[in-house]
Amino acid sequence: RCRKTAEPLLSAFAARRDSLGRVKATRRKMVKQAVGGDPVAPPEGFAPNSGVDSYEKYKVMHDRSLEDPKGFWSDVIEEGGLHFEEDFDRSQDVFSYNYHHTKGPIDIKWFPGGKTNLSYNALDRNIKQGRGDQVAIIWEGNEPTDSSTLTYQELKDLVCQISNYLKSVGVKRGDRVNIYMPMLPELPATMLACTRIGAIHSVVFAGFSANSLSDRILDNKSEVLVTASGVLRGKKLIPLKQIVDDALEICEGAGHHVKTCLVLENKHALAKGKCSVKDGRDVWWEQAITSQPKECDVEWMDSEDPLFMLYTSGSTGKPKGVLHTTAGYMLGAYTTVKYIFDAKPGDIYWCTADCGWVTGHTYLTYGPLLNGVTTLVFEGVPTYPDAGRCWSIVDKHKVTQFYTAPTAIRSLMGFGNDWVKEHKRTSLRLLGSVGEPINPEAWLWYHEVVGNKNCPIVDTWWQTETGGIMITPLPGAWGMKPGSATFPFFGVKPVVLDEKGNEQEGACEGYLAIKQPWPSQMRSIYGDHPRFETVYFKHYDGYYFTGDGCRRDEDGYYWITGRVDDVINVSGHRIGTAEVESALDMHHSCCEAAVVGYEHPVKGQGIYAFVTLMDGAEANEDLRKELVMLVRSEIGAFAAPDAIHFAPGLPKTRSGKIMRRILRKIASNEYDQLSDTSTLADPSIVQKLIDSKQK
Ligand code: WTA
Repeated sequence: RCRKTAEPLLSAFAARRDSLGRVKATRRKMVKQAVGGDPVAPPEGFAPNSGVDSYEKYKVMHDRSLEDPKGFWSDVIEEGGLHFEEDFDRSQDVFSYNYHHTKGPIDIKWFPGGKTNLSYNALDRNIKQGRGDQVAIIWEGNEPTDSSTLTYQELKDLVCQISNYLKSVGVKRGDRVNIYMPMLPELPATMLACTRIGAIHSVVFAGFSANSLSDRILDNKSEVLVTASGVLRGKKLIPLKQIVDDALEICEGAGHHVKTCLVLENKHALAKGKCSVKDGRDVWWEQAITSQPKECDVEWMDSEDPLFMLYTSGSTGKPKGVLHTTAGYMLGAYTTVKYIFDAKPGDIYWCTADCGWVTGHTYLTYGPLLNGVTTLVFEGVPTYPDAGRCWSIVDKHKVTQFYTAPTAIRSLMGFGNDWVKEHKRTSLRLLGSVGEPINPEAWLWYHEVVGNKNCPIVDTWWQTETGGIMITPLPGAWGMKPGSATFPFFGVKPVVLDEKGNEQEGACEGYLAIKQPWPSQMRSIYGDHPRFETVYFKHYDGYYFTGDGCRRDEDGYYWITGRVDDVINVSGHRIGTAEVESALDMHHSCCEAAVVGYEHPVKGQGIYAFVTLMDGAEANEDLRKELVMLVRSEIGAFAAPDAIHFAPGLPKTRSGKIMRRILRKIASNEYDQLSDTSTLADPSIVQKLIDSKQK
């Protein structure tokens, strides 16, 4: 069997640059054509009512957040009435850190000596401030006829019951709890129940396969899993409990026993009777939770105690458990929602993300609840029962802020304007975008058709690792440029580095890095601190490296150009090419696989897999289907390759490294830009690849 060799990361960056340059040139031209080069002014009347009404005010606040972080964050805590059971030590610096891998372990700490609790601040604090009867969660089911609400008091009662149950099965402070659930109110409630008692939750997106779920359980060794019978997404039924049974069997095989599996019956999708139950391990939600007391003391956590982990993809095959801690994450979530979404009491805020991704953590659950607004949880998909579903939900619940991903915008744009115009959308005040660069056409459609030019658009750049939004417009405060995330948020000091790691000034382009810690920064990779140091701090000593390319224009606006490592962004989902390659590699007919991203009109990036076959294997449709199925079952449906190219060979250097730059060009039909192929061991392979593609 032949073996795959990985290309070193830095040369991969270099390779990506020329292709990025081209993409950017096209984007720049499109923006110019679309808006005549001038920024789009925010809607009149928005700024005077928002928290930060001008660039000048922002500048003063941003400067202070970097020069006097203690004063800045102390004011945030005081103005928001955020509760610290024990104040942090004001005699020390508000943060301490080491970003130099050459000077000992990478280490980041905020709010030394403080004690607080996120669940308390999101629930009890709001109730104390008089919001007990206000709706905290609006749930909208897959079917338009299904919806319900929970007030802050009702949500707190439910959270306490879940906390009490978790404690009754032995979950203690610092223990991990895995959550694999559909978008029902019980999902954010379970997250809040964990943080209430100091347990570290790890939510696994309910679109992941049994293999991916078991990988994550085996990594964090949790003995408790919370799940549901199933879920309907549009017309498609996903039997979650069955997937869980398979995952737990894999865990058993690897010697790890999950002792408690709490199962919620999702009556809208799959009845109890259709699920298998393992005595002694599986417990139905109703039996377990309903009889629990509705009071549960909170566990006061140290500022730097772990809060949650969330697995995300990187350059290597193994997903990493990004670890966030308590006080800093809480302040990041609170402040970003307050200023970026202009959150106000009475707002009905809808973020379409699933809690299985970081956006569902910070901008569906914690951030909105910390701000005392009503957050909408949607179980279904934007195109069911028809392509007007989002706007019908906006009208039904009088949604004021709407936050989604460019892929959803592009997909809805494809259905035409009538689906939007059929609905009033008069409640909307602000629109947001996240997850990938937004192309100017989609931006303009969002602004003009969805928002009737009445809503500012916040194009928010951030990552699972950053915990919260990092670069973004503040709505109303300055002109927007379609496709630019504009300026850094409070506390964030971005730099654009060149190949050698030098900071560049003024208009420039290069690699995006962050110069000093911000409160909601990840602190480690669960169980693997050395990997944390290598992935984020070794490329450029003294900086947090984001893995993204970036341009800063002559007006100082930041434009994120996409990943420069082997991570691709498919419909806003982060996928490591190495993960897909290892799945393909498992097939007995596959000799070697190399996966790259290519521009896709709806998904942003599509997955293109080059596969060479073992001697005797036949390249046919059945094999293609088997390979796609294998990726679906190994990772999940969202990672299925869009194209499989049976390749006669792969372009390799004399030392055996795959030259992905060439593969990217071939996948994108950019044959005239193949540049230098002389370092290839066999340059003739390039033409063979082109020929085999055209066939
Ligand atoms: C990309 C999602 C351009 C970027 C919150 C980043 C973006 C990765 C934007 C993180 C944006 C996210 N403009 N690119 N507004 N937002 N990205 O961890 O490449 O799922 O590194 O976090 O998404 O993806 P993740």
